[in-house]
Amino acid sequence: MEEEILIKAQDKKNKNEILLYLLNNKGKYVSGEELSEKLNVTRTAIWKHINGFKKLGYEIDSVPRLGYCLKSSPDILYPEEIWKDEELKFLGNKIYYYESIGSTNEKAKILAVNGEPHGTLILSEKQTMGKGRMGRKWESPKNEGIWLSIILRPNLSPEEAPKITLVTAVACAKAIRKQGINCAIKWPNDILYEEKKLAGILTEISAEIDRINHVIVGVGINVNTKKFTGELENIATSLYLIKGEPVDRKKILIDFLKEFEYFYSKLEKGNFHEVLKEWKALNCTIGRNVKIIGKTKEIEGIAFDIDGFGALLIRKNDGSVERILSGDVSLR
Ligand code: BTN
Repeated sequence: MEEEILIKAQDKKNKNEILLYLLNNKGKYVSGEELSEKLNVTRTAIWKHINGFKKLGYEIDSVPRLGYCLKSSPDILYPEEIWKDEELKFLGNKIYYYESIGSTNEKAKILAVNGEPHGTLILSEKQTMGKGRMGRKWESPKNEGIWLSIILRPNLSPEEAPKITLVTAVACAKAIRKQGINCAIKWPNDILYEEKKLAGILTEISAEIDRINHVIVGVGINVNTKKFTGELENIATSLYLIKGEPVDRKKILIDFLKEFEYFYSKLEKGNFHEVLKEWKALNCTIGRNVKIIGKTKEIEGIAFDIDGFGALLIRKNDGSVERILSGDVSLR
């Protein structure tokens, strides 16, 4: 039994390594001999896995004497698609990938408590119990979006945790803008396009009084959803609906991860002001009349700035200023 588990693990490792090798050599022929020598895998195993990849939708040419050539990948967010990117430093060094899961944030919490490292990524093609802010549900249909969570172990005090949400919002908006979509950030964590929601962020923190144990950043991006129904119809949108054509989820995912690493490193190095500058350039909240619906009260006024901790500053009609740390914002 133990031996069987070991063989299965080795087979999975071989499979991952072959795919990674093909991805790194996309468009080029690699011979069975080369794969077999470099990865220490039998030719039969290579043949078996190549057939498996083809069944999953990878377009692979097999030519006698030349070998295998990966032409294109299916729309699946396999970890190898991320690992092939050499620019990423800490994000996704460890990835948990699922075809379906309740919620990536819930899974991430369990993994974080079990000691999984900083930068661990949890990805799922579908969530059956996706969570939004304020106890809402987050629709996460199969292969239509990017549903992910990141485990972070930042060296920050608990009151600085909201800064991570701002880092994430900037990274998300930047990745989406690379698609030519002029989205904006609504404080603190919604990515909107023409007032409709394109992406959302759910940051959950486990902390002592003076130190953070871990932070889970959950990100949901509506990429290829073709139709929203019910109450979402008027408030949500997707990249597909904006562009009128399917969008490569892998590209957005990798762009997001790179932007995240870039802005997170600013935060780590004590240069949060650079994140704030970017956030301000991308936001659609400052300068607007807003209504904040908090747990216990509602506040109306003009959102005139955010402070160095990422709190929203509101000037009320009586001229007094309120500092808002959390809540739902409606733009007027
Ligand atoms: C919001 O705007 O209300 C936040 C939405 C966050 C959704 C993402 S999808 C991946 C991660 N797992 C969850 O259950 N929620 C977040």
